Amino acid sequence: MVVWSPIRFNCGRELANRFAIAPLTTDSSNEDGTAAEDELEFVRRRAANGFGATISSAAYVAEDGRSWRGIGAAHDGHLSSLQRLAEAMRSAGGLAILQIYDGGRIAKPELIGEHMRAPSAVASLRPGARTPRAMTSDEVVGLVGSFRAAAALARKAGFDGVEIHGANHYAVHQFFSPRANHRVDQWGGTLAKRMSFPLAVAEAVRDALGPKLIAGFRVTPFEAEADGYTLADAKLLCDELARLNLDYISVSLDDFRKSRPQRETRVYDGPVEQSHTPRTSPITELARVIAGRSAVMASGGIKTCGDAEEAIDLGADLVAVGRAVVVDPEWLAKVRSKREASILAGLPGDEREIASSLSIPPRMVEYLLSRPGWIPRL
Ligand SMILES: Cc1cc2nc3c(=O)[nH]c(=O)nc-3n(C[C@H](O)[C@H](O)[C@H](O)COP(=O)(O)O)c2cc1C
Repeated sequence: MVVWSPIRFNCGRELANRFAIAPLTTDSSNEDGTAAEDELEFVRRRAANGFGATISSAAYVAEDGRSWRGIGAAHDGHLSSLQRLAEAMRSAGGLAILQIYDGGRIAKPELIGEHMRAPSAVASLRPGARTPRAMTSDEVVGLVGSFRAAAALARKAGFDGVEIHGANHYAVHQFFSPRANHRVDQWGGTLAKRMSFPLAVAEAVRDALGPKLIAGFRVTPFEAEADGYTLADAKLLCDELARLNLDYISVSLDDFRKSRPQRETRVYDGPVEQSHTPRTSPITELARVIAGRSAVMASGGIKTCGDAEEAIDLGADLVAVGRAVVVDPEWLAKVRSKREASILAGLPGDEREIASSLSIPPRMVEYLLSRPGWIPRL
């Protein structure tokens, strides 16, 4: 079965199988952006199953772009924490990939203070969102530099590569979105100009990593919101990204079968807008454009081996698994040994039991339970 076969990326690094742990923010890091012991344990226990790779929770590249209490890759003070994280992620020999992000207009005021900055002075759709200040062009160039510096730090810390978080409405996504980016300078205005920030970040990261480390990019394949970017727009972006010799492009969906991307409001149990829902799977469409120049990673609702195979049949080369491994730390071991019937299908009712039996940091438990419909309960 292809899911258990190795895959070699452009840079030469090989994953032993087609399963990766998806990036999973724990909201539980220390206040200074260093990884807390319980979040290292969360990762170590799951990675020990033998995933081809583990992608870290998103690490902030700039202090004023934090969206939650997560890890940082913003300065040398984060180096030893990143080294410990890379070790925990490699507990069974899989590759360790650091995801890096900036929050832009969905940064958290409690963490960054009054001064929220973003591509344009347009508030996000999240309830209670503040209107950010539009970044100056010097600040935009500076933010590209912060992504570059974070990639250099990841390299120093011993990671096998970096994934740029270009999805799920964070700053890189915002620059690409006509809803969030109303600029009229070289960073916005036309579709080509809206692509310039994601491409500049990808180039800077590739440059900082050199040719032998993994450079990945996570993209939301289309925006579900009215007036959002379309799948046709994302195809053009992915074509340009593939030209930059990226190792993989990760297609972020909440449900790969229903082509449902994460909405900016993050409401999981309400009706879903259908504004741009494409007829063919965005995984297939993007894989066609990428045409083997970069690997394609799929995610969203992978719960069984059969789901992973189905995503691969749609055109993906590998899959990232999120909620299934949150809920069952031994998910991959059970899939591998064909014990899928024993996979835990939801979090137990007792919150203390969740933290202790599943090695989930208590703050993360609160975070998981904070959004109705997000994580299944038993
Ligand atoms: C607790 C939690 C934290 C997440 N944190 C991140 C993150 O840091 N970066 C990211 O790109 N996606 C993040 N996601 C999205 C997942 O990586 C994944 O794309 C999504 O949950 C859909 O896949 P799944 O159905 O396998 O969970 C997070 C999801 C969950 C449940």
